[in-house]
Amino acid sequence: MVQIIDGKAISDEIKAELKNEIEELRQRGITPKLTTILVGDDPASASYVRMKGKACDRLGMLSDNIPLPESTSQSELLAQIEKLAHDPAVHGILVQLPLPKHINETIILNAIPPEKDVDGFHPINKGRLAAGEDTFVPCTPAGIQEMLVRSGHNPEGKHIVIVGRSQIVGMPLAQLLMHKKKGANATVTVCHTGTRDMGFFTRQADIIVAAMGRPETITGEMVRPGCVVIDVGSNRIDDPECEKGYRFVGDVHFESVSKKAAAISPVPGGVGPMTITMLMKNTVKAAGASHSG
Ligand code: GUN
Repeated sequence: MVQIIDGKAISDEIKAELKNEIEELRQRGITPKLTTILVGDDPASASYVRMKGKACDRLGMLSDNIPLPESTSQSELLAQIEKLAHDPAVHGILVQLPLPKHINETIILNAIPPEKDVDGFHPINKGRLAAGEDTFVPCTPAGIQEMLVRSGHNPEGKHIVIVGRSQIVGMPLAQLLMHKKKGANATVTVCHTGTRDMGFFTRQADIIVAAMGRPETITGEMVRPGCVVIDVGSNRIDDPECEKGYRFVGDVHFESVSKKAAAISPVPGGVGPMTITMLMKNTVKAAGASHSG
């Protein structure tokens, strides 16, 4: 029987640990606070931002969302970030991506002070991760590592094949897992759109991480029996048989892969809850560091 890696249960375990840390901070007069900025009215982004706020509330943290219209200029957005950068009550700043096309994402992400960059997207934090230094690790890669370790599939010594080289998942995950550290020290292969014969690589993997954003692309014939498969995808596909007319599927073809894999993370209920929990963890870390010096 295939093991279903329950991201919700693992993230509940981490949240219970975080509650104690938050209580300790509160006793020192610090309540961790995350402020999100949402530009425009994309329903998926709005829903992610709401989930992040709710997660803060449930843990006894503070949260705030600044909704800005689609027409917001780059300098207006920069001014908002500047204000939050100087507000000592705000420990984490998150600008929800994607941004409208007239705003330069790099300029915006670079304006968030590295010590409040709980997404881990600032070049200073990216550099620290690449160098193996303590930093804010981007939430999805950090969640995947925790998920593997806590479900009994420690990456140490394993061959991990990551499919997808995005700045948010594939690239930072590859760096995180190849460092000579606990819960890492893996042999990492990164496949991408330039890879010829993807199956040649995925069939050699002990662990596959599917993070290319293409529905149900990793199929049963691409995995070795006994492989562990982490599905980062969350693709909305039309399905008239569902009440809402659509449903979410991952980047993995669950039905065929689950027949061969030893363990698989489902969509939904896999990586998604882990990502939000790691955002909470990064915000608590930012709050703890903010008053320590
Ligand atoms: N949009 C999709 N994923 C993310 C994320 O991890 N952080 C931010 N800020 N925006 C996103």
